[in-house]
Amino acid sequence: MSTQNTFLKELDERSSDNLFTLQSHILAEQSKHPGSTGTFSWILSAMSLSAKVIASKLRRARLDDVLGALGTENVQGERQQKLDVIANETLLRCLGRRKGVAIVASEENEEPILLRDNAEAEGGYCVLFDPLDGSSNLDVCGGVGTIFSILQHPSPAATADEAMLQPGSRQLAAGYILFGSSTVFVLTTGNGVSMFVLDPMIGAFLRVEDNLRIPTKGKIYSLNEGNRPTFPEGYQRYLDWAQHNGYSSRYAGAMVADVHRTLLKGGVFLYPPTAKAPNGKLRLMYEANPMAFLVEQAGGKAYAGKERLLDVQPKTLHQRTTVILGSSEEVDHVLRHL
Ligand code: AHG
Ligand code: MN
Ligand code: MN
Repeated sequence: MSTQNTFLKELDERSSDNLFTLQSHILAEQSKHPGSTGTFSWILSAMSLSAKVIASKLRRARLDDVLGALGTENVQGERQQKLDVIANETLLRCLGRRKGVAIVASEENEEPILLRDNAEAEGGYCVLFDPLDGSSNLDVCGGVGTIFSILQHPSPAATADEAMLQPGSRQLAAGYILFGSSTVFVLTTGNGVSMFVLDPMIGAFLRVEDNLRIPTKGKIYSLNEGNRPTFPEGYQRYLDWAQHNGYSSRYAGAMVADVHRTLLKGGVFLYPPTAKAPNGKLRLMYEANPMAFLVEQAGGKAYAGKERLLDVQPKTLHQRTTVILGSSEEVDHVLRHL
């Protein structure tokens, strides 16, 4: 055994290639739960496969002539891009055949999709996602993403809605994939945050960061300042304060890109209530909750107005929420102005 270990150590010393993949990470996490059936790992591997498929379709979007609007609207009354639908169908196909997936819910589908009946759903999972976040950035080659949240199916549940309407604090896993200058997969299973980058040469996500921590402060605020005239007063007071204290403004207009920068560089990301969207614009179950779980797991804070975001009891699948999340000190600065 020790000869074998010395042999492997020598090989490691000769090569700096990173061989720790998302798949290895998932299996290592699974081995920490001795009774595990592996179902949950299968679901995460479906997310990884979907991410690779979506990444490759996005790279070819202009060549394949799939940019632009489809001419239809989703359940939120927003114009669907062709790629919103392509990404959604990719996720539904990858997840749909995985045994433990009881229900899936997507920004692009009004109703949740029941894949197993109640008896079969026992011990299964609910997977919720925003297949393509920031899709209006597509035409200009800006960053876009996929966001997902995984909940235990509380079988027996009377309806799919009842099964899904759990507060974010009950999430078992959450993550996002940022399709930017590289493809980045950020994941939590409630045990810290890990980050993986897709190596397109070998087709695998490689772990570049385990136990990612968000800086405790960072003088950046990220929000759509064009909406400022109709923000509640507290947010306006915060902006006055930040602008007099040397803060910079950064806004990509895609939550995944903005939250990713906030996680790595610190600062605060906000989507306050506006006249157009009095409850905020972002969706609680598949945008805000997964991001809040990640940010808290990285040592930051996430609020829906004055309430901890993960404690919000959802009433409907597609409900919207105010979002304030990021570095703990920066979130505190916002909260004391509200
Ligand atoms: P989606 O493309 O999934 O509908 O999400 C867009 C969201 C989110 O990504 C972003 O933070 C926000 O909309 C931007 O909204 P504004 O254009 O109102 O700033
Ligand atoms: Mn979105
Ligand atoms: Mn979307």
